[in-house]
Amino acid sequence: MTATRIYVPRDAAARSVGADQTARAIALEAGRRNIPIELVRNGSRGMLWREPLVEVVTAAGRVAYGPVTADDVPGLFDANFHHGRAHPLAHGRTDELPYLKNQERLTFARVGVTDPRSLADYLANEGYRGLTAALQLAPAAIVESVTASGLRGRGGAAFPAGIKWKTVLGAPGDQKYIVCNADEGDSGTFSDRMVMEGDPFVLIEGMAIAGIAVGATKGYVYTRSEYPHAIATFNAALDVARREGLLGGNVLGSSHAFDIEQRVGAGAYVCGEETSLLDSLEGKRGQVRTKPPLPAHKGLFGMPTVINNVVSLASVPIIMDKGAEFYREIGMGRSRGTMPIQLAGNIKYGGLFECGFGVTLGELVNDIGGGTLSGRSVRAVQVGGPLGAYFPPALFDTPFDYEAFAARDGLIGHGGIVVFDDTVDLAKQARFAMEFCAEESCGKCTPCRIGSVRGIEVIDRIAAGEAVDANLDLLRDLCHTMKFGSLCALGGFIPYPVMSALDHFPEDFRPVRREAAE
Ligand SMILES: Cc1cc2nc3c(=O)[nH]c(=O)nc-3n(C[C@H](O)[C@H](O)[C@H](O)COP(=O)(O)O)c2cc1C
Ligand code: SF4
Repeated sequence: MTATRIYVPRDAAARSVGADQTARAIALEAGRRNIPIELVRNGSRGMLWREPLVEVVTAAGRVAYGPVTADDVPGLFDANFHHGRAHPLAHGRTDELPYLKNQERLTFARVGVTDPRSLADYLANEGYRGLTAALQLAPAAIVESVTASGLRGRGGAAFPAGIKWKTVLGAPGDQKYIVCNADEGDSGTFSDRMVMEGDPFVLIEGMAIAGIAVGATKGYVYTRSEYPHAIATFNAALDVARREGLLGGNVLGSSHAFDIEQRVGAGAYVCGEETSLLDSLEGKRGQVRTKPPLPAHKGLFGMPTVINNVVSLASVPIIMDKGAEFYREIGMGRSRGTMPIQLAGNIKYGGLFECGFGVTLGELVNDIGGGTLSGRSVRAVQVGGPLGAYFPPALFDTPFDYEAFAARDGLIGHGGIVVFDDTVDLAKQARFAMEFCAEESCGKCTPCRIGSVRGIEVIDRIAAGEAVDANLDLLRDLCHTMKFGSLCALGGFIPYPVMSALDHFPEDFRPVRREAAE
C-alpha cells in the first residue's frame, strides 16, 4: 500500500492554533489504524482563519480540511479523509478555493505548497531557475533586468531595487554586502515570516542573485527575535544550501562565491530602519545614521551594501526566471508586479493575499477579507503599519498603488492592512501612535524624541476637553514639525496616523460634544 501524503503546516500562525498537536494526532491515529501516511510539515497557504489547514494528496489533487484540531482527527479518519472523502471540515480541492484562486502568486508560489526544508522539493517546483538564468548574464545585465522589472522595495520606502543595486555595483570597495531586512516590525504584517518559514530557499536564491549582480560575497539576514520558527527554518535551509554547494566558494558550480549568515535582533522597531539595522548588525546600539553617506556607498562596516526587504529579495528569482517584461506587465502606474498583502485586525478572512497592484482597498477589506470578524461595520483601516494612515470607508476606492496612497496622505508600507470596526476610538489610536513613537524613538533627533511625548500630552488635554480648539491647532503644528524636522521616517511618518485620525474622524477629538450627543 502506498503512503498517503498529508500536509500540516509548521508555520508559526498555524502552530499558534494547534498545528503541532494536529500533526501528532494524525501520526498517532494513522499508526493505530495501520494506515501508511507520509506527513509533510509545509508552510501556510495564508488562509489563517482555516488554520490548522490539513491537506491530503489524492489522485484529483490536494484536498483541504480545516480548521482541524487534534480532537477532529479520529472523526476524519472515520470519514476516510485520507482518501479525500467528504467531511464537515472538507473544503474540496485546495487550488480551487476562491481565496487562493483569485490570487496571482509569484513570490509566494511555493509557500504552503512545498516542504520548506527540502531542497529536492524546491528544485522540483522551479527552484533555482532564476539563479541559473542570472548566471548566464553579466552582473550589469542582472541589475538591468531587475531595474526593467520595475521592482520597488517591499519593506516600506518603495525605492526601485535596480537603482540601489546599480549604485552598489558601481561603488568601489574590496568587500560588498547584501543585507536582508527581516525585522518585520510593522503591525499586522507577516509576509517576511511566511517566506522564511514557508520557502526559505527562495530568499537564499534571491540573495545569491543580488550578490552576484553587485559583486558581494557575503550576505546577512537580520531577523527579529520574535520569529523563533523563522530563524530555525532559515538556518536549517542555510545548512542544506551550504552542503549542496548553493552557497560557498562556487555557487551552483559557478566561479562566484557567496555565503549568508543570519543574525537575530533584540527587538526594537527602529532597528528595521536600514541604518539602525546596520549599527545593530555591527554590534552597536541601533541608532539611525545621518545620510549621506548612503548604505549603498558606505554601509555595513563602512562598505558598499545593498539592503533589501525579504519580500523584495524573494521576488528576484521569479523576475530572473520569467523575465523583467513578464513581471512589469502586472500592476498599475509605477507600482509593478505583485504585492503580498496582509489582512489583519478585526477581519473575517485574515491572511496573506498576493495579487498585482491595482486592487482597491474596498475589494481587499470587504470582498476578499469579508468585512469585520465582529460582524459590526468597518470604521477604519490602518494601512502600512504603525506609521500608516487611517482610512475611512469613504476612501475604499483607493487602488493599492504607492502613488494613489500617497496622493491621499497614506502609504502602503510593507502591505499590512489592520481593520477596525465601529467601536474604535481614533483619538485613542492617535495617542497610541505618539506613545509608540515615544517608546520606539532612537532618541537621535528632537522632533521625534521630545515631540512624541508632547504629542501624548496634547492629545490627553484634548481628551479631557481642555482648550480643545487651541490644542487641536497645536497638535497639527506639532505634526508638521515632526514630519519635516525628523531625521528618519519614524518621527517623520508618525504624523500620518495622527493627522488622518484628525482629518477623517474629527468627531473623536470632540469627546465632550460626542458624549453629549450620545
Ligand atoms: C522606523 C522604520 C522601521 C522600518 N522597519 C522595517 C522593517 O521592519 N523591515 C523592512 O524591510 N524595512 C523597514 N524599514 C525600511 C528600511 O529602512 C529600508 O527602506 C528597507 O529595508 C529597504 O529595503 P527595500 O528597498 O527592499 O524595501 C523601516 C524604516 C523605518 C524608518
Ligand atoms: S526620527 Fe526618531 S527614530 Fe528617527 S532618527 Fe529621529 S529620534 Fe531616531
